[in-house]
Amino acid sequence: MSPIPDLDALAKDAIADITAAGDLDALENARVRHLGRKSVLAELLGSIGALQPAERGRVGKEGNAARRAIEAALDTRHAMLEGEAMGSALLADRADVTLPGDATPLGALHPITQVRLEVEEIFLGMGYAVADGPEIETGFNNFTALNTPAGHPARSESDTFFIAGGEEDEVLLRTQTSPVQIRIMQTGPPPVYVIAPGTVYRRDDVDATHSPMFHQVEGLAVDEGLTFANLKGTIAYFLQQLLGDRDVRVIPHFFPFTEPSVDVSVAWTDRHGRTDWLEVAGAGMVDPNVFANVGYDPERWTGFAFGFGLDRIAMIRHQISDIRLLYEGDLRFLEQFA
Ligand code: PHE
Repeated sequence: MSPIPDLDALAKDAIADITAAGDLDALENARVRHLGRKSVLAELLGSIGALQPAERGRVGKEGNAARRAIEAALDTRHAMLEGEAMGSALLADRADVTLPGDATPLGALHPITQVRLEVEEIFLGMGYAVADGPEIETGFNNFTALNTPAGHPARSESDTFFIAGGEEDEVLLRTQTSPVQIRIMQTGPPPVYVIAPGTVYRRDDVDATHSPMFHQVEGLAVDEGLTFANLKGTIAYFLQQLLGDRDVRVIPHFFPFTEPSVDVSVAWTDRHGRTDWLEVAGAGMVDPNVFANVGYDPERWTGFAFGFGLDRIAMIRHQISDIRLLYEGDLRFLEQFA
């Protein structure tokens, strides 16, 4: 049996060692060293029975006191190191609330929608209302009431997407926004000053200026004493507001529901430097037959109507040389208008 160590000094050394432990691993090593099964203290307390009977009480008491002091030091150091570990983990994981967030990309209006809103703004400024109509129409509204009787070539299968047949109860995708004229005139008496933008459909082959789905803005003015001069002035003012000063050409044309009828073209230069006329609207004075079809007195009221191609106006407005670009959904193209 080795001599009984100085328990006071042993406890002091152990506590100094524990206090110096730099991290939780080092502290565990210190615990094993000073309280583990092979530690001086454990061996001493485990062999008390081998001591002189006179020594047992004192050594047991002092040994246990030393053990409690060492355990207390371990607990204190453990709590301290654990706090530090938590603190540095929090520091490492810190959320920097001053960092910029992840930006959510903003969407933008399609160029056709942008142009439509500009067109609406200009006509609202002239006192027009903005109306809407369904894209699925009756043959009556799209054709018959617009002075386009059964058998007219414009009604044929080659131009129109039919949904349901039958001479009198045809249902179709509207080929023009003009049926909105009929809907508006059927809902109330003149005067009427209204535009109706919307999507239309035709069985056209796709090329740089044609698409089977495109957009128009219908216009209708009905009042006492309206003349062709009012139509021309309205179109000239509108185009000047939207496209600035540029040459506008108005030439005779035919539409079943206007008389006289005209084609309106605008001079435009595409991005390859080519200048040409681009037809942007059909227009004319409302045919008296149309007034009769909706119950307006053709002796009292006169009016004009027009139908602008919104896609073509967007093309001129933004120097787009191919209508297909407007429908491909290519972000590289669309982002230029954001
Ligand atoms: N609806 C005609 C078209 O689509 C355009 C038009 C509208 C012509 C109004 C005259 C009056 O071609």
